[in-house]
Amino acid sequence: MSSNNSGKKFLVIGATGIAGGEVARGLLARGESVRALARDAEKAQPLKDLGAEVAVGDLSDPSTLGPAFDGIDSVFLVTGIVDNAAQNGASAIDASKIAGVSHLVRYSAIGGSLDSPVALGRDHAQTELDVKESGIPYTILRTQTYMQNLLVAAATIASDGAIHLPYRDGRVGMVDVRDIGIFAVELLVRGGEIGKTYTITGPESIDLHQAASAISDAIGKDVNYVDIPPEAAQQALLGFGLSEWLVNQYLAYFEEFASGAADFISDDFEQLMGRKPLSVAEFARDHAVAFSGESAAV
Ligand SMILES: NC(=O)c1ccc[n+]([C@@H]2O[C@H](COP(=O)([O-])OP(=O)(O)OC[C@H]3O[C@@H](n4cnc5c(N)ncnc54)[C@H](OP(=O)(O)O)[C@@H]3O)[C@@H](O)[C@H]2O)c1
Repeated sequence: MSSNNSGKKFLVIGATGIAGGEVARGLLARGESVRALARDAEKAQPLKDLGAEVAVGDLSDPSTLGPAFDGIDSVFLVTGIVDNAAQNGASAIDASKIAGVSHLVRYSAIGGSLDSPVALGRDHAQTELDVKESGIPYTILRTQTYMQNLLVAAATIASDGAIHLPYRDGRVGMVDVRDIGIFAVELLVRGGEIGKTYTITGPESIDLHQAASAISDAIGKDVNYVDIPPEAAQQALLGFGLSEWLVNQYLAYFEEFASGAADFISDDFEQLMGRKPLSVAEFARDHAVAFSGESAAV
């Protein structure tokens, strides 16, 4: 496989997370040369086992970043769901500039704007601006909320056949994160279209009644969507030990979904990849074991 690779060296930031993990594994599967930035080397061991090089560094401490960026051609930049995401993005952009990287793919989110009521949305907009002003050839990838987030409902689907979330009847063009990985790998390996912003959603905008029905078909058991008040979701999330800041980000996103602001789809995935993105029915079938309560895997 290595004879077909692009000859480039990729740095994946956020490689121990959901989206970055898909990208790092996707690049490795194509025989590409991957360095994973990780705060904790142990967390990146599975990627090392697949052939990645691991550089220990923390975006919140720019002095740790130099060796991670040294010799890198292309960067995939994820900043986490953290309260200093914009500063972390700026640190990664600075380090990319110093290292002279030739392509930066910024992993962003739909709905970001400088006056967003969601702190993360403001941070995404700020980092997009910083990327555009950096002078580094860039591509921006904005994505919708993941179908994989539905896996948080696996426990209540197992216990009482229900998804409890405060989306009201809001429809969302939710996307399978596996498609995000496939799309990002394509952008990185091909070099992407410089200066372009891609918007990635699933193939249909669905409400949670439709998601419940797809899961029900996949596992052969009745599953219903139960709309709950935001306050109940807040208590449940705090009960899981999430910080107040993080819970507030989720609540703001839930309100966006409930209001219909995420009720749209984009055909950017199909244009580049030549097929429709995965549907919620395919997602549910592929995760039937987890939704049946036979596995806790997310
Ligand atoms: N969840 C969604 O539905 C969704 C949808 C669209 C866009 N997004 C965006 O996706 C991004 C989060 O990525 P994800 O979904 O893959 O979440 P994730 O699984 O939480 O991954 C976040 C990654 O960022 C890393 N990270 C966090 N702080 C860091 C730091 N200071 N230095 C170095 N690495 C750091 C984490 O490393 P550790 O393993 O060390 O924690 C992890 O690898 C956010 O920007 C979010 O807005 C999410």
